[in-house]
Amino acid sequence: MSGFQYDSTEVNRLIQQFLPAEKGLQKTVVRAMNEAVENGGKRIRPILMYEACRCFAENCGESRDAWIGDVAPFMAAIEMIHTFSLIHDDLPCMDNDTLRRGKPTTWCSYGEAMAVLAGDGLMLEALSIVGKSAADSASPSRAAEAMRILGEKSGIRGMLGGQSADVEETGKKLNEEQLSFIYRLKTAALIEAALMIGSVIGGATYSELDIMEKIGRRVGIAFQIRDDILDSCSTEEELGKPIHSDEKNQKTTYVSLYGPERAEKEVLTLTAEAKELLEELPGDKEMLLSLIDMLTERRS
Ligand code: IPE
Ligand code: IPE
Ligand code: MG
Ligand code: MG
Ligand code: MG
Repeated sequence: MSGFQYDSTEVNRLIQQFLPAEKGLQKTVVRAMNEAVENGGKRIRPILMYEACRCFAENCGESRDAWIGDVAPFMAAIEMIHTFSLIHDDLPCMDNDTLRRGKPTTWCSYGEAMAVLAGDGLMLEALSIVGKSAADSASPSRAAEAMRILGEKSGIRGMLGGQSADVEETGKKLNEEQLSFIYRLKTAALIEAALMIGSVIGGATYSELDIMEKIGRRVGIAFQIRDDILDSCSTEEELGKPIHSDEKNQKTTYVSLYGPERAEKEVLTLTAEAKELLEELPGDKEMLLSLIDMLTERRS
């Protein structure tokens, strides 16, 4: 283990300021949304976004206040979309899980209807936050491109498309190509989005964005394989979510298909490829490199 730890205080503060007020007759759904976001997980997507943005913006000599002001709404938005994906993923009609981030899942606390609405609410609140930020931004074209990436990577060609294939293929034996399609969409797409959006806001060129997308794909697929490994061999206390959820739901995973040793090897190969690609980019990449290592070695 590298022992590297990321202090997420600043990232949490930046996200927190965008949470909606719990008032009006709809306050129950807003409370469910806020509770799910505030009961934070690792915040890996907004952290990657922040660090990718810092890398490019500092390299272009941009002022810290300017780039943080532009990227913060997208950090909140991606964490909201990720949290929406988790709330829906845990529903009885999907993975039927009762524990998330060490607490009862949203549907257990608020009922299924409110959990569906809380997920929808988070997705649409994310849209409203980034729309407002684009209108206020000094670089509206960068914000518009970032919004396009967020929609593309969250929706049918990204996370949601992957979740749809995951649901439909449950209980079937998948081959490597099908499995890698599902991992690329359901998990890697939001990690690609995090790195790409941070880069766009920080002033990256299109060719630099392509490299970031490739890095995100590798880090994201490795992230899902690690998630599968932990599902098969960690503990509920350490993970904050149930173990053996994949077995219960008859999911084909990298671990069930190839065994834990090959899965570990694949995580290392993908991580090494991602780090090599990162070397091609400008700026101070030390923090991104440490984060990629931390994700490889994570225990929760
Ligand atoms: C869990 O994501 C879902 C997957 C894509 C594997 P995270 O492991 O990032 O969950 P939190 O946000 O830390 O709870
Ligand atoms: C889900 O994968 C990825 C999402 C898009 C939410 P999993 O179903 O393996 O995620 P966990 O293990 O419940 O966090
Ligand atoms: Mg799932
Ligand atoms: Mg699940
Ligand atoms: Mg899992």
